[in-house]
Amino acid sequence: MAARGEFSSRMAFVLAASGSAIGLGNIWGFPIKVASNGGGAFVFTYVVLTFLLAYPILMAELVIGRHAKSDTVASLVKISSRKSRPLAFLTGYWGILTASLILGFYAIVAGWMIAFGLASAADLIGANAQSEWLTGFSLNRNLTFVAVFYLLTIGIVANGVTAGIEKWSTRLMPMLIVLILALIAYIGTQNGAAEGWRVYLQPDFSRVLNPDLLISALGQAFFSLSLGVGTMMVYGSYISKSENLPKLGATVAAIDIGIAFMAGLLVIPAMYVAQANGVTIYNESGALIDSDGLIFTVLPALFETMGGTGIVVSLLFFILMTIAAITSSISMLEVPVAHAQESLGLARKKAAWVVGLVIMAVSVVIVFNFGVLFGWVIDLTTKYSEPLIGILFCVFAGWIWKRNELLQELQQGKPDVENSFFWKVWPAYVKVVCPLIVLMVFMHSFGLLNV
Ligand code: PHE
Repeated sequence: MAARGEFSSRMAFVLAASGSAIGLGNIWGFPIKVASNGGGAFVFTYVVLTFLLAYPILMAELVIGRHAKSDTVASLVKISSRKSRPLAFLTGYWGILTASLILGFYAIVAGWMIAFGLASAADLIGANAQSEWLTGFSLNRNLTFVAVFYLLTIGIVANGVTAGIEKWSTRLMPMLIVLILALIAYIGTQNGAAEGWRVYLQPDFSRVLNPDLLISALGQAFFSLSLGVGTMMVYGSYISKSENLPKLGATVAAIDIGIAFMAGLLVIPAMYVAQANGVTIYNESGALIDSDGLIFTVLPALFETMGGTGIVVSLLFFILMTIAAITSSISMLEVPVAHAQESLGLARKKAAWVVGLVIMAVSVVIVFNFGVLFGWVIDLTTKYSEPLIGILFCVFAGWIWKRNELLQELQQGKPDVENSFFWKVWPAYVKVVCPLIVLMVFMHSFGLLNV
């Protein structure tokens, strides 16, 4: 068998994993949730939950992956006893299915981003009819850009870990950061931005413990760090044994939060700039417009009020969104592809194309039944599957895997880990605290627990 892929440096892993984490979840989802959950209060809760709940689970995935150096199903089987093996298969395949379904809806939204970016380019050269088609919600438009997005994603994954995922993550992530900074700087010069920053940064602490806010922040923390589907486990399996895992994980979590925060600094003020320019940003019930209305109505309306500059800003904004989406979608596709390659023995390119096209068929089915399936698949994967699989990953790291093997794995790259704060807290945490809290929040959100 060919040698397994491995990230060629620490930086390469950090960029690839941050690329996975930073996606539409950060730049689309996060500002929307902030807008509909009391501004700064949501930001505060989100940051706390990411460090208290999501980071420990991220570590569980990374350490299992690096230990086993296999695809997700094989990794979980490797750390299992005979008795727990069926659970390993169940969890591994459930993760693969969830990653695939997430890609199924994600690719549709990502396709819109490409279409909106091209629409700005069309505006720039005065191709108005084309621009209108690109921003209209037609079946053909949606299908075309689903296909375009899959070609890009499959094309990268087909080249493997170093020549595909690593190469493109290290190229695209710096671009993403430059673009987001440039856009914040520009929006900051506009009328109304200061009001937006005030709303964004001032927490209304009375809302911090609101159950809806907690559930929404937890879901966001999971989705944003790409947890509960095995993505981070597979990426972890490509980390060299000489790296210090707790530090790498913390770096990725911090970058992910940092970019989400920056996306808020961009999108929320942009809404208020839009308002200052006469665009409606509140709906009839007096709440801020959220959901896709924000990105696909309010922001384009804002760009329009800015004339020629607006077209360029819009183009840059949708390029930013597209980059964010691609570095995430390749990490979703990697989960089933790694399995098809390593456990089922397909060649890399074949695995990427076969699996990629099957998942594309799922997206096509969703496009044809958009009204029924789109929201349903999002809920199924992000509200139910991700937290439940997250709990199962904790069970594997905390209960099933032998503790001395776990310690030995962490000692690789950090020989003194046994004396660290991390080792004093994390094992018990991932064993008891994380699964219990996630379970409580999960049950609460279905009205099964009233606290
Ligand atoms: N973290 C990505 C985002 O924020 C989404 C994602 C989920 C990526 C699961 C991989 C796996 O958009």
